[in-house]
Amino acid sequence: MAGIPVVERTADLGTWAQEQRCAGRLVGLVPTMGALHDGHLSLVSRAAAECDVVVLTVFVNPLQFGPGEDLAAYPRALEADVEAAARSGASIAFAPPVEEMFPGEVATNVHVAGLSEVLDGRFRPTHFDGVATVVAKLFAIVGAARAYFGEKDFQQLAIVRRMAGDLSFPVEVVGCPVVRARDGLALSSRNAYLTPEERAAAPVLLRALRSGASAVAAGERSPAAVTDLVGSIVEAEPLAALDAADVVDAATLRTPAVLAGELRILVAARFGRARLIDNVGISTPP
Ligand code: PAJ
Repeated sequence: MAGIPVVERTADLGTWAQEQRCAGRLVGLVPTMGALHDGHLSLVSRAAAECDVVVLTVFVNPLQFGPGEDLAAYPRALEADVEAAARSGASIAFAPPVEEMFPGEVATNVHVAGLSEVLDGRFRPTHFDGVATVVAKLFAIVGAARAYFGEKDFQQLAIVRRMAGDLSFPVEVVGCPVVRARDGLALSSRNAYLTPEERAAAPVLLRALRSGASAVAAGERSPAAVTDLVGSIVEAEPLAALDAADVVDAATLRTPAVLAGELRILVAARFGRARLIDNVGISTPP
């Protein structure tokens, strides 16, 4: 199969995207940090089904890694990524060096107040500013009509959506369902850090989330009762170190006093070197 172009320069991608828009083509955007798996590729396939051309971006964004996080170790596999993305329908790949995206000191930061401070923001205080800033740049460079993000990173999706609306980016932010391995573990580039024993233990996350969702479905309306249940199931796994279990309103990401409406149950836990996150949705009957 014919390969797709890989560009490193912002100006080259901008020119390409401009030509596509001028030719009347609907441009889709799939931002990633690479080491692509079937979760990423589900976004590319969806974009290819709904848009005329699809831009895949592969950029390990230093702004979103905190001190002591895994920036240097983050898995990289550009050649395989480009091939896989092309097979899933990508039209072009953008893989800029860090100096291309951030040529000097970064003076302008995008901060989405509120949504960035809750949940994982408590553990990663600068992470979502780094995400919002780089995604705003990608929106500005590409001028895509639609951009695809996974519900795997539910808080990120909410923040990107809010940022696009608040800054009037003319882009539709599309959320896509979590893609999982057969045993329920959400696919993640960071799963590569797991030892075989940790990999075997990690599906506890989905089991815990499903137990929480079942409790809500059975009538539990106390957030603490649900998060205690989810947390205790994760903590019963010796290879897991629980960071947090939360249940929030899916739109505000705040924990309501009484569970009602569209909810999201989220969990974060460490397995050895890997910090994994997952979430499920559940709604109460009207
Ligand atoms: P990355 O972790 O590479 O993920 C890229 C996109 O793939 C995100 O929208 C993420 O939610 C989605 N994704 C990852 N695993 C998934 C799975 N199992 N099922 C469905 N979607 C999945 O998220 C980032 O990169 C970065 O923060 C980025 C948005 C690119 C900004 O740097």
